[in-house]
Amino acid sequence: MSKLSELYREIEACRDCPLAEHRTRVVPGEGPEDAELMFIGEAPGFHEDQQGRPFVGPAGHFLEELLSLIGLRRDEVYICNVVKCRPPGNRDPMPKEVKACRKWLERQIEIIDPRVIVTLGRHSMAMFFPGESIGKAHGTARKVGNRIYFAMYHPAAALHQQKLRRTIEADIQKLPSLLAEAEKLQSQPQQLSMF
Ligand code: URA
Repeated sequence: MSKLSELYREIEACRDCPLAEHRTRVVPGEGPEDAELMFIGEAPGFHEDQQGRPFVGPAGHFLEELLSLIGLRRDEVYICNVVKCRPPGNRDPMPKEVKACRKWLERQIEIIDPRVIVTLGRHSMAMFFPGESIGKAHGTARKVGNRIYFAMYHPAAALHQQKLRRTIEADIQKLPSLLAEAEKLQSQPQQLSMF
C-alpha cells in the first residue's frame, strides 16, 4: 500500500475533534503522491462531504478552470483542505478543529514533498502566513527552505465577484514561473530566505 493510502486509512478513522460526529465522509485529499504542486483549501462543503473528494462542487469547477489557464489538469496536482471533515452548515473551522487536524496536513506535506504549496483562502493562508491579511498577501510568494508558498484567494470567494475573479485569474498565472524557480532551488544547496 502506498504511503498516502496508509495515511488516508488513518485519517478516515480519525475522531479527534467534534467534526467527526457530523460528517458523511472524510475528505482526506487527492492527487499524485509525487505532485509538484499542492493546493490547500479550507474545509469540505456539502458535495465534498457526500463524495469524500475535495473541491468537487462549484468552487472545484472553478479551480479546474483556473488550472486550465496554466495548462494543468486537476489530476496532475494534489488537492486537500486544512480540515478533513465538513463543518456543519459550512461554518468556518474552529481553531481547535484546525489544531486537531493539522497533523494530517503535515504528514501529507511530508509524503508529497511538493515544490510549491498554494494556499486557497484565509484559513489555509493563516497556517503558513500567520498574521497576514489575504487582501495584501494574495499573489505573493514566500520561500522557506527549498519550498515556495503562494497565497491565493479562495475560488469560492472569487466565483461571484468579477473583480476577485480577475485577480485570482491573474494570480494563478504566476505559478509556472514559481514552479520553475522552485525546481532550481531544489537542485541547489538548501537556503533559508524570504521574498
Ligand atoms: N471549499 C474548500 O475549501 N474545500 C473544498 O474541498 C471545497 C470547497
